[in-house]
Amino acid sequence: MNLGIAGKRALVCAASKGLGKGCAMALAEEGVELVILARGREALEAAASEIRSKTGAKVSTVACDITTAEGRAAALAACPDPDILINNAGGPPPGDFREWNRDVWIKALDANMLTPIELIRATVDKMIARKFGRIVNITSSAVKAPIDILGLSNGARTGLTGFVAGLSRNVASHNVTINNLLPGAIETDRLRSNFAAIARNRNISV
Ligand SMILES: NC(=O)c1ccc[n+]([C@@H]2O[C@H](COP(=O)([O-])OP(=O)(O)OC[C@H]3O[C@@H](n4cnc5c(N)ncnc54)[C@H](OP(=O)(O)O)[C@@H]3O)[C@@H](O)[C@H]2O)c1
Repeated sequence: MNLGIAGKRALVCAASKGLGKGCAMALAEEGVELVILARGREALEAAASEIRSKTGAKVSTVACDITTAEGRAAALAACPDPDILINNAGGPPPGDFREWNRDVWIKALDANMLTPIELIRATVDKMIARKFGRIVNITSSAVKAPIDILGLSNGARTGLTGFVAGLSRNVASHNVTINNLLPGAIETDRLRSNFAAIARNRNISV
């Protein structure tokens, strides 16, 4: 496929595994230059090598926690002016809302709502000035069909969706689009660990 994005620069968050890595590979196949990040350096470098060898794309890495201010600063220092921003991070843990205090909620909101908003804030005006920008937030089908044990995810991602719905209407006329990807069940490490948690809860095997 030729999406007409060859030569663009992309910052792909949480991209050493799973959906983020899938997005990075797809962009690289289109000739996009990448900065990918994740916390664990080993898997990150392995993903970067795999993407380089399969696509020939230029891939830089930043080992950082994107949910922290330091992590975002490191990511933006490596890629201050992306044409394409893929917002992604690990999802909050499943559980019973009775056990979640304010700190637990703030952590989930930080990771899955405020981090993408901060990265959009740091990059969207430069996209507007260039008259090109593509922002994709990896969220969850739980935004449309909330899942009982994923209350932290339902809450944080719905908040992000509401915010983005307003902003996207405001920037679209500058050829800057903001969209959300709402994956259902896709077999990744995250899905396997969620299924294991459900099985433990129900005392069944997976
Ligand atoms: N898979 C599904 O079926 C599904 C469905 C709906 C929603 N989602 C959501 O989609 C997102 C990605 O899920 P996935 O299934 O692709 O997960 P995954 O296979 O576990 O991969 C997660 C990736 O994110 C990185 N990461 C996690 N936390 C990070 C952080 N704080 N800073 C930087 N990198 C971080 C991980 O590397 P490190 O651990 O080394 O940092 C890894 O590269 C999650 O938010 C998940 O909740 C997934």
